[in-house]
Amino acid sequence: MELKACLENRFSMRAFQQTAVEKEKLIQLLDAARMAPSACNLQPWYFVVLTDPQRCAALCECYKREWIQSAPAIIVACGDHSVSWKRRADNKDHCDIDLAIAIEHICLRATDLGLGTCWVCNFDVAMCKEFLNLPESVEPVALIPVGYPTQTEPAIKNRKSLEEIIRWDTF
Ligand SMILES: Cc1cc2nc3c(=O)[nH]c(=O)nc-3n(C[C@H](O)[C@H](O)[C@H](O)COP(=O)(O)O)c2cc1C
Repeated sequence: MELKACLENRFSMRAFQQTAVEKEKLIQLLDAARMAPSACNLQPWYFVVLTDPQRCAALCECYKREWIQSAPAIIVACGDHSVSWKRRADNKDHCDIDLAIAIEHICLRATDLGLGTCWVCNFDVAMCKEFLNLPESVEPVALIPVGYPTQTEPAIKNRKSLEEIIRWDTF
């Protein structure tokens, strides 16, 4: 898909067909994440992929919304704070920024492949961490449910206008 169309067509999918997502397609999503830039190219990420219905259901205990249970696959994007770049001037940890880019690569590639996704950050992080047995330095940053859409038309985009978000030669 042309990039502009992909950007316009991606939207948060919160209802999925029950059809399983092919493993090759899930690998293509993860390969898109692998291509993401990261501060100092430290790539402080890894991705836990759940496709087993029982494991998906158990993970959904971290995010008690009925809609996520329809997802045939869930990717948990994890950031490793022991790897990520910290800016020396103020010690700012860039882990979240790196993860956000990788996650959006997944979401855009999913759109390109005819799949739906949704960013989910409003989950119980401690519960998720325990469920996945993640080491101390590793944070589950987002759950990304993936599946074939029940809705193919992009939702109406409720976005600020360009005028509202640009300060052109002025500040
Ligand atoms: C960092 C981040 C966290 C989000 N967390 C959630 C979430 O926990 N649950 C949810 O239903 N949607 C979540 N969303 C989806 C947003 O609500 C959605 O992207 C926004 O409303 C714009 O709609 P669109 O994605 O359809 O364009 C999140 C999005 C981002 C970028």
